[in-house]
Amino acid sequence: MTPIPSFARHERRPIATVERDGDVVTLGWADGASFTCLSEWLHEQSIGIDPSTREGTVEPSDLAPPGSLVGAFVDDGALRVEWATGERATVDPGWLRSIADGDHLPGSGVGRPRPWTASDLPEPPSFDGSRVLDDESVLEAWLGELCTTGLARLRSTPTTDDLMAELAARIGPIRGSNFGGVFTVESVVEPDSTANTGRALGQHTDLPTRETPPGFQFLHCVENTVAGGASRMADGLAVVEELRSNHPEAHEALTTLEWVFANRAPDGDHRWVAPLIDHGATGSPLTLRAFYPVRLAPHMPIEDQPRAYAAMRTFSAVAHDARFMITSVFEPGDLVGFDNRRILHGRDAFDPGVGRRRLRGCYIDRDDVLSRLRVLRRPGRAATPTAAAAAPATATPDPATPVAGAPPPPTRSIGGVAP
Ligand SMILES: [Fe+2]
Repeated sequence: MTPIPSFARHERRPIATVERDGDVVTLGWADGASFTCLSEWLHEQSIGIDPSTREGTVEPSDLAPPGSLVGAFVDDGALRVEWATGERATVDPGWLRSIADGDHLPGSGVGRPRPWTASDLPEPPSFDGSRVLDDESVLEAWLGELCTTGLARLRSTPTTDDLMAELAARIGPIRGSNFGGVFTVESVVEPDSTANTGRALGQHTDLPTRETPPGFQFLHCVENTVAGGASRMADGLAVVEELRSNHPEAHEALTTLEWVFANRAPDGDHRWVAPLIDHGATGSPLTLRAFYPVRLAPHMPIEDQPRAYAAMRTFSAVAHDARFMITSVFEPGDLVGFDNRRILHGRDAFDPGVGRRRLRGCYIDRDDVLSRLRVLRRPGRAATPTAAAAAPATATPDPATPVAGAPPPPTRSIGGVAP
């Protein structure tokens, strides 16, 4: 079998039929699925694949030219292709079927975002984290929830200062910031951020001063003996939908009028300009830029500024509305992860003079969290212990997972499915 551009071990899915029309090849499976592709694509993804790296090696100008495909047929369930150059490939039918099914797309296997309100999700979905460093099934279940609900909590993790870094190492590289790699959130005498005081923090997202704010944030409670300081979360997807549906003027202002965000530090000067609700390019995930401590100035004509402020007031009111916001108290050993660009988070005030509230945290970019989850779920990967034991008590069904009936087989061609 010719090397495939994948490290997964795909289930064997024998091809039933192959039809060729010039340079266009259409494959068919017994369940009715079909897949259409071009000779040049087959050439670069079979002949051109290095067996060690599984990456392509052929410059586009060196691909077998149009008109050079001389044969395409079924060979013991696989696809056999031949070119006039004398090159031949036998392509894994399981891998071809995974492409036909769209398994190669960014959203495949990681679940779709599942918006929630306080009535849907009264508390963060929680998992027993006592064995998260040793049991990949816990890690997979927790990260999976994180990528759909945008919020997931481990409970009963060790309350050591190093736990955050140890767990991050099992996910991916830490996204550093002006707070460092793993940072500490606690009230200090000379704070470098509003977070390191006992003040209440309104619903916000971190680091809107960056072109791309960190994808996920993790906070591990090492110690908490203060009164107050409860954590608050709201799903930005639900907040944005509420604004779009019931406050269209505010939604329009929040998605189009831009602000300058800038941090203030003796040795740092990060800046970015964007709207508070930033949908980015097509296919990009939502980015909320909601952190008033670093929102510096409107970047719009003076006549637009009154409605920009009015829209922010509406945004803040919805983000703090009990219909959307849930409250929970950090217990020592809790480790909460959340989508920093989607989930609005905040906290109640606390008295730093009585007791101690100490969190260890870090950021990890979205790409690295999704990559880790895909690897944990990669077909053919060695089974991990007791996935059932990792089921969260408060998780709800993933609408991306069919619960009744079989999905229709795909009829697709390369480029024919949305990300
Ligand atoms: Fe924050």
